Amino acid sequence: MTNDHADQWTNPLRDRLDKRLPRIAGPSGLVIFGVTGDLARKKLLPAVYDLANRGLLPAGFSLIGYGRRDWSKEEFEGQVAAAVKERARTPWREAVWKRLAEGIFFVTGDFTTDSAFDELAAKTREIDEERGTAGNWAYYLSVPPDHFPQVCHQLERSGMADTSDGGWRRVVIEKPFGHDEESARELNKIVNDVFPESSVFRIDHYLGKETVQNILAMRFANQLFDPLFNSHYVDHVQITMAEDIGLGGRAGYYDGIGAARDVIQNHLLQLLALIAMEEPVTFHPAELQVEKIKVLRATRPVGPFAQTTARGQYTSGWQGSEEVKGLRQEDGFDPESTTETYAAATFEINSRRWAGVPFYLRTGKRLGRRVTEIALVFKQAPHLPFGPGQINSLSNNMLVIRVQPDEGVLVRFGSKVPGSTMEVRDVNMDFSYSEAFTEESPEAYERLILDALLDEASLFPTNEEVELSWKILDPILEYWAESGRPEDYPAGTWGPQGADEMMRRNGREWRRP
Ligand code: BG6
Repeated sequence: MTNDHADQWTNPLRDRLDKRLPRIAGPSGLVIFGVTGDLARKKLLPAVYDLANRGLLPAGFSLIGYGRRDWSKEEFEGQVAAAVKERARTPWREAVWKRLAEGIFFVTGDFTTDSAFDELAAKTREIDEERGTAGNWAYYLSVPPDHFPQVCHQLERSGMADTSDGGWRRVVIEKPFGHDEESARELNKIVNDVFPESSVFRIDHYLGKETVQNILAMRFANQLFDPLFNSHYVDHVQITMAEDIGLGGRAGYYDGIGAARDVIQNHLLQLLALIAMEEPVTFHPAELQVEKIKVLRATRPVGPFAQTTARGQYTSGWQGSEEVKGLRQEDGFDPESTTETYAAATFEINSRRWAGVPFYLRTGKRLGRRVTEIALVFKQAPHLPFGPGQINSLSNNMLVIRVQPDEGVLVRFGSKVPGSTMEVRDVNMDFSYSEAFTEESPEAYERLILDALLDEASLFPTNEEVELSWKILDPILEYWAESGRPEDYPAGTWGPQGADEMMRRNGREWRRP
């Protein structure tokens, strides 16, 4: 199903880029469920302040926190201020804060108590009258998926999903969206029974990253790259999301979920879709979604999984100069836990463009360093007119899109070594965002919260994309569920041996980022 958000023939993304007009949200408010959680403190609240600081929120913008704590308005304001001071990207400005704080409120309640939701509904109506939010509310569900049905039910019951007053109501939903295809379908049904798909904004924060959006700019604004993006030239593609952090403190969310559900199902398959999709007719949400859906429909996991996938769990080791615990010693993890912290798998895309090109996706915690990148590894030139010894130091050409950190693009190719003999060696041509541009990139959550308020859905996966991504991953998850323990890998290394073997079997190796 696609979204119908704006006029089919206008292109908000492109128009704004051309004219460089700031995008300011119209009258609106935001309710955050799960406001006492980590994500709200580290990302959502600072992003709201950053948007205010950049002048992108409307005059009467209001923020309501909803949670079980018995907080007054002032206490919640204090919590928001602390989160902002600790994490905001832009500097603290007293005047901006004062204006924002006037619109900050807190309502105490859980997800089952009708009266608390009635109080919340009354609060939104009161704010509509006093601060001019005009019935325009985004409800941000930063809560585990088993609470989505209750919250949606309560929003409907209390009249907060009702738009007969002429305002808009949107729901913004954090991942994980289910734990397999079936549960995602059920959740989508529950959400879509209350909110039409055009009012549902599912967050995949990777799509809010500038470098991820640059994949589209790079491919479709240039003649240089995209003509090579196909099976004639590309040998294989590696998509890597490596993290150096461990899971201390996140057991509640992560145990039983694991690396593949946590990031391959969403972030990495979205990166695959953006790299592999055809050119969209425009950047209108519906046009983008159509192309992504086509690729995801054509994507399959490659088996046999014993040979084409790998999974691991970090054990104690050294992360640089710091000695760190293994997963099973982390607080809150069952010492018997079989949750994987490393996952690698092979996918294929059954299309004329990509037939025969494996896409290797890998992710892990406590790896050598933090890096997310997409590497297109090219085939060797069909003929190399060089003598013995002249190309010993030449490897396959490579195009690497570095999503983070050191955001940029790197091209690896062969070049003559200066001197009187013809010897060719790998060299790198490196584009770096921070050197090319003076503007600082906004945080992904700034972009996504603003887009939800503006009804710009380009960067939000639809229900169909989410379900297709689970469908692609489910066979691997089922296989792993029957295959005992993941392999161990020491913290600070590049993952389990099985991951290297999986590549070696095909005569390939992982790039060491
Ligand atoms: C989240 C995952 O979606 O992305 C986390 O749940 C992960 O496990 C995080 O650490 C990484 O995000 P980023 O933006 O730091 O790469």
